[in-house]
Amino acid sequence: MAFTMRVNGATHSVDVDGDTPLLWVLRDVLGMTGTKFGCGMALCGACTVHIDGAPARACITSVDSIGTSEITTIEAVGATDAGAKIQKAWLDREVPQCGYCQSGQIMSAAALLASNPHPTDSAIEEAMSGNICRCGTYVRIRQAIKQAAAS
Ligand code: FES
Ligand code: FES
Repeated sequence: MAFTMRVNGATHSVDVDGDTPLLWVLRDVLGMTGTKFGCGMALCGACTVHIDGAPARACITSVDSIGTSEITTIEAVGATDAGAKIQKAWLDREVPQCGYCQSGQIMSAAALLASNPHPTDSAIEEAMSGNICRCGTYVRIRQAIKQAAAS
């Protein structure tokens, strides 16, 4: 079935089953491989994208549920004010270790900063709690979010 989707400011037509996860469409159909597969069950946050600015797990979001919503992925989040601040802070603080979880971390952090420019520690904790990092970069993630908020 054909679906028209808005991704990173462009319109795409994709021909997939309606229950296909957005993650597979992004990676396998549109070739946007920055969004990662981790658990496939909304438990790790590796697949986080923005849907109308809100963080969402692409692994459990079916393509037929998206409608006309605007999807933003790690490939384009740097074009937003919050995304640019977060990415600069990530580089300054050298946050990533293996890097696998980091696009999801950045997407959650950018959504947080866009909705709450000066988050408290507890707000950061709450917003980032669904993003798992097996390398344990949590301290640098928090430092980078605070740096971005102060910039
Ligand atoms: S792959 Fe989607 S939350 Fe883990
Ligand atoms: S940097 Fe390796 S899983 Fe997070």
